[in-house]
Amino acid sequence: MSGELRISIKSPEEMDAMRVAGRITAEALAAVCAAVRAGISTAELDQIARDELKRRGALAACLGYPGRGGPFPGHICASINDEVVHGIPSKDRILAEGDVVSLDLVGLVNGFMGDATRTVSVGPVKDEHVARLLEGTERALAEGIAQALPGNRVGDISAAVEACAGRFQLGVVRELVGHGIGREMHEGPSIPNHGRPHAGPLLRAGMTLAIEPMLLLGKEKLLFDADGWTVRTADGSWAAHFEHTVLVTGGAPEILTEIKS
Ligand code: MF3
Ligand code: CO
Repeated sequence: MSGELRISIKSPEEMDAMRVAGRITAEALAAVCAAVRAGISTAELDQIARDELKRRGALAACLGYPGRGGPFPGHICASINDEVVHGIPSKDRILAEGDVVSLDLVGLVNGFMGDATRTVSVGPVKDEHVARLLEGTERALAEGIAQALPGNRVGDISAAVEACAGRFQLGVVRELVGHGIGREMHEGPSIPNHGRPHAGPLLRAGMTLAIEPMLLLGKEKLLFDADGWTVRTADGSWAAHFEHTVLVTGGAPEILTEIKS
């Protein structure tokens, strides 16, 4: 996820392959989100992801992905409440009414990847702060995506996300960033969720970007669990994470991981 990773510009054929990967990723993630209820374990959600990807001819790129905690042991990342990202699915993690769970899925289809995340409430949203967290983070994603225009720079996306977080009085995770995506899960450019307009790498048609605000009700300091994967807030405050894979075109951004009606 460093800025030195190469930036790939997709050919028209590669754009089509990214569209397929994005659609399948979106469909599988929607199925996982629809299964969220009190009493289900994150391991059960993980199996749904595996099955939904498999029947569409796709694989989960997270499974076996190398990291400090060894190869990632799940098909999805499932991060509950104060967990920000990279929660490991487990039969012992049972969702309860009022929890929020972020579900992060990377689908691999014919060599190309789509990356998408949603954070959902288990049953009704617990209180107005959690509502602000979910709404603000989803809005920040939309406002970041709106800046994914040819001729803009990465900083225009970053600044838009940060400004939205500020309006909703949410903290911004600074240690983790969005990224280019294609044949690799993590390509250049890095896409921070804070920054200055007109700064950073130039956006060009044919880039595909995973834009992923991670916002918090509390302070920005993070802790990394002993499992080597789970990232949580140091102050125990709750986090939300929304992510789409977006194609920069000659005009308006094309969201590849959105389900088109
Ligand atoms: N969507 C996550 C990311 O962009 C996927 C990484 S999960 C891992 O970093 F398990 F593969 F690490
Ligand atoms: Co990502």
